[in-house]
Amino acid sequence: MYSETRSLERGGGETEEAPVTIRPMRFSDIPTVVYWERKIFPSPWSPENFLAELENPRVSIAVVMECGGEFAGYAMAWAVADELHITNLAVVPSFRRRGIAEKAMEYLLQLGRQRGCRYAQLEVRVSNTGAIRLYEKLGFAKLGIRKKYYFREGEDAFVMGREL
Ligand SMILES: CC(C)(COP(=O)(O)OP(=O)(O)OC[C@H]1O[C@@H](n2cnc3c(N)ncnc32)[C@H](O)[C@@H]1OP(=O)(O)O)[C@@H](O)C(=O)NCCC(=O)NCCS
Repeated sequence: MYSETRSLERGGGETEEAPVTIRPMRFSDIPTVVYWERKIFPSPWSPENFLAELENPRVSIAVVMECGGEFAGYAMAWAVADELHITNLAVVPSFRRRGIAEKAMEYLLQLGRQRGCRYAQLEVRVSNTGAIRLYEKLGFAKLGIRKKYYFREGEDAFVMGREL
């Protein structure tokens, strides 16, 4: 409820107009990223998971989105051979529906192209209709289902992909 009110107050206000910036994730971002990861996801990545990603920049791409200087989310991918695999994407609830995830995804896709990737792929919970819409808007199509991919909750994943 607090987030919704804040969001409405921002509608038409100064922060609404604030530019979104996307920058590489730093080691010093990990506590903030883990804070939101635990709030947003039922099976959150650990601090060590994020650390391992930042220590492997040849494969791993990790970015932070900021809006008006405030932390607004993060996005991650692996670029392996000709495939860009989106591994994590989250936007802080009070910053949602402003196009931030779309911008972050376009940024990741562009980085993937620069690294020579020809395809992008990801898994998404079958119940996550908002994210599925986002990926479809970005040109991803459902390629198949991975049964019980989210094993703790026993939920299936759609595999979605597109050419770059
Ligand atoms: C999914 C998520 C990343 C979207 O972030 P966002 O910044 O709000 O998304 P955007 O504003 O860029 O949305 C772009 C488009 O995606 C679609 N979309 C995004 N969220 C949606 C929702 N909740 N319901 C329906 N469509 C949605 C819409 O088509 C939207 O375009 P529109 O606003 O012009 O209609 C965000 O809701 C989130 O962090 N969710 C929890 C974590 C998660 O599910 N991550 C993805 C795991 S695979």
